[in-house]
Amino acid sequence: MRERTCTEGRSRLCGCCLPRKPPMLPTSNHTAHHARLVTTLAGLLCLGSAHAATSANQPAAHTGDAARGQTLYTQQCMACHAADISLAGPLHRGVVGRKSASVPDYPYSPALQKLHVTWNDRTLNTWLQSPNAMAPGNRMGFAVPSAQDRQDLIAYLKTLQPQAATGRSKP
Ligand code: HEC
Repeated sequence: MRERTCTEGRSRLCGCCLPRKPPMLPTSNHTAHHARLVTTLAGLLCLGSAHAATSANQPAAHTGDAARGQTLYTQQCMACHAADISLAGPLHRGVVGRKSASVPDYPYSPALQKLHVTWNDRTLNTWLQSPNAMAPGNRMGFAVPSAQDRQDLIAYLKTLQPQAATGRSKP
């Protein structure tokens, strides 16, 4: 059986036949080595970032989509709330893990002052579903009926880390 050889004109596209003579003899080895190295490095980087992305995404996947939550927050909450200043509603930085009605200088309603919960996934979910059911007589006239929206909003609220607060804890 005759070994199939590439004929000219056929070999160009298929890549099965490399040119007999390397075009740049002195550097080709080096170049090939370099290319291999780059490919390997790229592979490693790729693996590395895939790994990083997986671990970074784990909490979000568990609790909600913080990016979507941010959009919802902008649309639904920012009429009355902001991360770093109290508006009609109290500021939200550090709200997850904070006691209810604990922003200094914010005039909470007696209903919210009597609530005594720590804001976490569960309490925030109950609050956002129906503030009035949780603390009758409170002044937040707003609820989030969709469970998915609540999860995503809470995931976003978790990103408002307390240590990033700007100058509130220091005089
Ligand atoms: C119409 C204005 C308004 C909107 C819109 C609004 N809030 Fe509020 N929110 C308030 C007010 C007012 C309070 C304080 C209620 C009180 O003292 O009775 C409050 C309180 C809160 C609290 C309790 C904070 C604490 O310090 O104890 C949380 C949490 C909260 N809001 C989350 C949200 C989220 C999340 C959204 C968007 C989905 C939202 N709110 C939309 C007005 C609003």
